[in-house]
Amino acid sequence: MTTEFENPNFETLLSAAQINARVKELGTQITIDYAGREPILIGILKGACVFLSDLMREVNLKVSLEFMAVSSYGKAQKSSGEVRIIKDLDVAVEGKDLIVVEDIVDTGLTLSYLLANLQSRGANSVKLVSLLDKPEPRIVKELKIDYCGFQVPNKFVVGYGLDAAERYRNLPFIAIVKNPALA
Ligand code: IMP
Ligand code: MG
Repeated sequence: MTTEFENPNFETLLSAAQINARVKELGTQITIDYAGREPILIGILKGACVFLSDLMREVNLKVSLEFMAVSSYGKAQKSSGEVRIIKDLDVAVEGKDLIVVEDIVDTGLTLSYLLANLQSRGANSVKLVSLLDKPEPRIVKELKIDYCGFQVPNKFVVGYGLDAAERYRNLPFIAIVKNPALA
């Protein structure tokens, strides 16, 4: 029987072991950079949930956890840059150090809106950690990914939190979808 973890439409791009090793490195770097501070990790739902769960256990600091959910206007898969906040933070962030945790930066439109929005609330600092960076389709060229896991090619990827029509977030690895029409 073919299981979802061995779907022939997937080509493994990053194994669970590769992801795990890189997440440890990112956590260690954040631990060093934020020594003596108490940052708030802000996970962007839903895609960042798996990455955030692993990353936070590698950050050896007093951290707190928040979530935001955003949606691009319109039904197009490619975002327009207009972003609607579906779920906002539960706390005020004035004077706080914020680390936004995202699954993938593609055009950068969602993130550039979000980072500006958080900065406008009077945060002391706002940094971005993204597991994946897909640089080719970037529209917001000046967007800075402070902590980046991996650069990926301009292909549709799933797994480790990333979905295709809400499926495959549970894959323990990241795969390129060979034929998106079949995903
Ligand atoms: P953007 O950077 O504003 O274009 O939006 C990035 C968002 O698009 C991510 O948070 C993902 O939800 C989604 N996305 C972009 N590329 C992929 C992909 O290859 N697989 C799954 N979701 C993706
Ligand atoms: Mg996302």
